Amino acid sequence: MTDTLDTPLFRPPAPKPLQEPPGLLAFLLALRRNPLTTWTERHFSEPIISGSGALGRITVVNDPDVIRHIFVDNAANYRKDDLQLRVLAPGLGKGLLTAEGEEWKLQRRTIAPLFPPRVVSGFFPAMVESAERLVRRWQRRPEGREVDISLEMTRVTLDVLERTIFSKGVARDPDALGRAITRYFEGLGRIDPVDIFGLPDWVPRIGRWRARPAIRFFEELVNELIRDRKALLERGEAAPRDLLTLLLEAADPETGKGLSDLEVAANIVTFIGAGHETTANALSWAIYLISQDERVRARIEREVDEVLGAGAFEPQHVERLVYTRAVLDEAMRLYPPAPFLSRAAIADDRIGDLTIEAGTVVTIAPYVLHRHRTLWDEPDAFRPERFLPEEKAKIDKFAYLPFGAGPRVCIGATFALQEAVIVLATIVRAVRLDLKEGHKVTPLHRITLRPHEGLPMRLTYRRES
Ligand code: HEM
Repeated sequence: MTDTLDTPLFRPPAPKPLQEPPGLLAFLLALRRNPLTTWTERHFSEPIISGSGALGRITVVNDPDVIRHIFVDNAANYRKDDLQLRVLAPGLGKGLLTAEGEEWKLQRRTIAPLFPPRVVSGFFPAMVESAERLVRRWQRRPEGREVDISLEMTRVTLDVLERTIFSKGVARDPDALGRAITRYFEGLGRIDPVDIFGLPDWVPRIGRWRARPAIRFFEELVNELIRDRKALLERGEAAPRDLLTLLLEAADPETGKGLSDLEVAANIVTFIGAGHETTANALSWAIYLISQDERVRARIEREVDEVLGAGAFEPQHVERLVYTRAVLDEAMRLYPPAPFLSRAAIADDRIGDLTIEAGTVVTIAPYVLHRHRTLWDEPDAFRPERFLPEEKAKIDKFAYLPFGAGPRVCIGATFALQEAVIVLATIVRAVRLDLKEGHKVTPLHRITLRPHEGLPMRLTYRRES
């Protein structure tokens, strides 16, 4: 079969950009319901849009050179803005994602050695085990059964994190951990108007209030796991080389100082919070997109069958699954799991003709950037080939930012990509998934970008695993 482009490209669902900016009330309502619906046609076609309104001075940047300036060249002048911290910090504590200034620098230096490719490849067996367990569970069901792929991908990414953070498992009911994590982040996942207007922390947020029992359970569990592991290490007994041990042993390469128990706990919660729904969404969107395009489906099935065959998944297969990776890259272009990044300028800054005054919130929205008319061919169409090595080289590094960029780039990117390739290839080898007839797919921005009302899909089997 040839991969000609004579069939029309698939244009997956996305809200139609507005012709004009909405009024304040409509804007706030849309922001609460689905911030994706607030973008206007101008955002997708102009490089810089600056404005002042109820939320203060905001500059939306879609110019790759200016993005490089903000994230890399003058990164020290841009801190995480208050709204972002108000939404994330109550759930994640002072872990790497929400720490600032000197505290962040120390943590980043100490934690960076946990995520290079050499260490991440050590997690290969745990990732394969999670992926295979998932398809075995599916294969116990009669063919034609429906599964909610959003939910299933959240489960599998949580399973990977549980195995790589606490490889010895948890003493209490392991399902209870999964449930507590899900409830914990569900309660925190919505942008509350109280946060938008910067009201103080003692003003109750409904989501957070509802999540309180789950928060307490989850925090106690994490503290218990830390205490037990520390005791094991202190007794000099062999400890598994999982992320928990690595965090407890981590030492700042400059000062030799380790992390406090509080920092270890905050970073465990951060890895779970930053790592499970993002990766789950990348996988869900990839599976949905494959199901809508027979040409892509045939090509990815062919690659997976050729590379993996019927044998065991080996570490060297990951690099050879080039098209599988391109499908994931393209899924994260159209539906970036982190669709919105922002910073606040500390001092006035000048970039060519552009002035950014101190206090301005600079918005870099991967969702808009990745569909920008001036940066991409067929920006709204699904075409994984653009990420095959020969074409990928032509993409500006600052036009494609699923993992951010610069000193605060995602520390888990190698981990997430390895995991996503393993899970997607394991699924494609074993089953076919087709969207439930009549189900309307809508992208919903809730900190991450997920399919609204899930992704009910029907299973058919390709191979017993
Ligand atoms: C497809 C999956 C993922 C996506 C799309 C993603 C995306 C991102 C992005 C865009 C940022 C930068 C945020 C900013 O600049 O404001 C970030 C930061 C971060 N991510 Fe990820 N992430 C993913 C998976 C993971 C995983 C698996 C982990 C951990 C195991 C992780 C841990 C972190 C941490 C700790 C930070 C903060 C880094 C710092 O500020 O120094 N992420 N992620």
